Amino acid sequence: QVVRLEDYRPTDFLIEHVEMRFELFENEALVETVSTLRRREGTDPASPLVLDGDALDFVSASVNGLDIAGDRLDVSPDRLRVALPEATAAQAVQLSVRTRLRPEDNTQLMGLYRTNGVWCTQCEAEGFRRITYFLDRPDVLATYRVRVEADRRAAPVLLSNGNPVEAGALGDDRHFAVWDDPFPKPSYLFALVAGDLDPIEERFRTRSGRDVRLTIYTEKGLSSRAGYAMDALKRSMVWDERRFGLEYDLDVFNIVAVGDFNMGAMENKGLNVFNHKYVLLDPDTATDGDYQGVETVIAHEYFHNWTGNRITCRDWFQLCLKEGLTVYRDQEFTSDERSRAVKRIASVHTLKSHQFPEDQGPLQHPVRPTRYREINNFYTATVYEKGAELVRMIATILGETRFRAGMDLYFARHDGDAATIEDFIRCFEEAGETDLSQFSRWYAQAGTPTLEVRESFADGRLTLDFSQSLAPGSAGTPTAPLVIPIRFGLVDRAGRDIEAVPEAGSAEVEGDVILLTEPRASVVFADLPERPLVSVLRGFSAPVTLLHAQAEADRLALARLDPDPFGRWRALTDLVGERLRDGAKAGGTEAGATDPAIAEALIASVEDGRLEPALRAQMMQLPGEAEIARLIGRDVDPERVHAVREAVLAQIARTGSERLSHVEATLGGDAGFSPDAASAGRRALRNALLLPLSLADGSPERAARRYRDADNMTDRLAALTVLAHVFPDSDLATQAVGSFFQRFEDDALVMDKWFLLLATVPRPDTLERVEALAQHPLFRLSNPNRARALIGGFATGNQRAFNRADGAGYRWVAEQLRRLDPVNPQTAARLATAFRSWRAFEPVRQGHARAALEDLAATPGLSRDLADIVVRSLN
Ligand code: ARG
Ligand code: ZN
Repeated sequence: QVVRLEDYRPTDFLIEHVEMRFELFENEALVETVSTLRRREGTDPASPLVLDGDALDFVSASVNGLDIAGDRLDVSPDRLRVALPEATAAQAVQLSVRTRLRPEDNTQLMGLYRTNGVWCTQCEAEGFRRITYFLDRPDVLATYRVRVEADRRAAPVLLSNGNPVEAGALGDDRHFAVWDDPFPKPSYLFALVAGDLDPIEERFRTRSGRDVRLTIYTEKGLSSRAGYAMDALKRSMVWDERRFGLEYDLDVFNIVAVGDFNMGAMENKGLNVFNHKYVLLDPDTATDGDYQGVETVIAHEYFHNWTGNRITCRDWFQLCLKEGLTVYRDQEFTSDERSRAVKRIASVHTLKSHQFPEDQGPLQHPVRPTRYREINNFYTATVYEKGAELVRMIATILGETRFRAGMDLYFARHDGDAATIEDFIRCFEEAGETDLSQFSRWYAQAGTPTLEVRESFADGRLTLDFSQSLAPGSAGTPTAPLVIPIRFGLVDRAGRDIEAVPEAGSAEVEGDVILLTEPRASVVFADLPERPLVSVLRGFSAPVTLLHAQAEADRLALARLDPDPFGRWRALTDLVGERLRDGAKAGGTEAGATDPAIAEALIASVEDGRLEPALRAQMMQLPGEAEIARLIGRDVDPERVHAVREAVLAQIARTGSERLSHVEATLGGDAGFSPDAASAGRRALRNALLLPLSLADGSPERAARRYRDADNMTDRLAALTVLAHVFPDSDLATQAVGSFFQRFEDDALVMDKWFLLLATVPRPDTLERVEALAQHPLFRLSNPNRARALIGGFATGNQRAFNRADGAGYRWVAEQLRRLDPVNPQTAARLATAFRSWRAFEPVRQGHARAALEDLAATPGLSRDLADIVVRSLN
């Protein structure tokens, strides 16, 4: 059934305090939950208390210490209903409930489960109800005191939220620990971990002098790989104090890394739980991308302590209130710690390759949805990434000072609240003395708006005509005009920004931002000595599709000399994308796509020593095959897309190899590995050059040498990718793939890379290879990272093979989803989103995709998670 935003209403009961006792045994766990609750003022005194459950094994219940049963109580695995006449607004009662859990059988990885012997929880969004009956919704805030008991050998470490208050021995070689969390929190932030874990520990003193013990726990023998995560944590804490004035608030901050986890990480109060992938690193096994990912996710979860935990969400429709805002904060952190331009390009790349396709297909939904069947399916690129873009637009519209004032007001006013998007917006309206009512449409209207720009120049006058439109999409939300902040610059032929004042009567312009609020508007700049180059949407100041009727010469010139590095990237990437799109549509490999001027622009940008190496590597990256397909939009033939992209790569290799080798030579090598941004940028550029240079050689020798000489995973994996993807039939590729396996077969995170690499070999017959890999002894469907590497890698990272003309790619993925669904529905549903663009393909492929989806939909006993994605994809 469907949950609707307009049906929100507060609970009849308030839970103020929760005391829990967990007794962990080898084959079961016993849980006692004592909730202190009272009736909300003004509610019907006869209404019963109805608690959520999910597949629970009920043991007993009592009220104020007296057993209850019979007519007062109505219990099923997913609901507990109790009449509570003794509870009033003035009189609290204590409800005690006992449940029995089987963590070792919990393969869904929601609630309390075991991973490699370690007891661990995941409660967001609705996992707490798999532990005990509760008002499992984010607007019920309580303090928690948790006692954990376990065998001392199986679980020397016992953790929960908040501060440790007591620990000691019990009989039978068992022991206990008590944790107290003084901050009222919703149940989705509850966490418990118990196991034989290795800690690394450091201390942090907050700005106001609180001493905090920071600990990262890993499975035995892995703690030497947690050092960088610890460093990232301390930098995050410092940054949040400086940038937003936000300090940590408990005596301890604990992080636990586990190998089986449905998502990246979870911000449970004082006890973050992480996927191994976002904690464990060393140069030999992790790439620069992994280092960057750890830094980002560590920061993200830490930042949630304020944006998510201290201020949480009233209901799950408000998810972007914490996620969009926290992504914005982690993006800003990375920009400050590394390079702003490089981070912005990376974020825009993520937005376009994940959020845009979602927003343009059957899974479209607004940043704040108004209805859902399964909330876990709304932890999406739209809520996270577009949500962050909306916060960024508020910052752009208000400017730094007023934006910070709005954030300060939000923390001051809503600390301790379960808040809404309206609460958030109001803080910026008040602090910024602005009306954001029209802006708020961004939260309700799904789809990627189109921004059209036309320019004309005569007699020293430049006219910019803007228009916006939003096509109706599958979400069926309104399409009214939005507020679109357009950051811009007028650039002279020497690559300098020109100061120009808009004429009266123009659309609103504030500094370098044009605020488009109407369907169309114009801005005029007079007294210009020459026609400037118009650089619009700098920094991707709004998440729109830009249609700028701009002469190719101007675009190439901007790619060369826009003083804004992001502007250079955007000019080039848009031009290249359009050429690839048109080339694939025309069907020829030569038709227009392989324009020498474009190859020249790409090569020249890589040569440009004024740009940092990381940025040059980004400039060189061609749009991926999925991105080209999205630009085409309909009737896509992935073989043509592949062919056109290959043709452009070959052309760059043919015409640029000498200049690109020169770039490589001037870059030199690094002595030893350091994960800092500058070193990573040099590696990125050097590795980006490996592909065209190998294509120019027409031989795998160069990549094989790079592979042999590599002293870190970044270089090794880059070389292996060229070998396995470009020269898959060569002996050198076969040898390298085999030696990589032998060297790293005991390392799960590296084996994920191995499976992913083989799943993404861009050839139709990769499907047969992937079918075999699903039988590999190291393939484990029940491990989310492994399932994502092989199935997800194939379905989202291999356009050619997944979208095979005979439909076998679709059928295989659907079959895997059918197998995975009963084991782990959440991960199955996530992987099923790979079908989100099926309607963009030509009719034969569409027919196969539809048949695969319909077959899935007809599978008896499909989980709500997977059924929701499949049904929405078919609509
Ligand atoms: N709150 C977590 C984070 O973004 C992610 C939780 C995802 N939960 C889910 N049910 N998919 O930091
Ligand atoms: Zn988050």
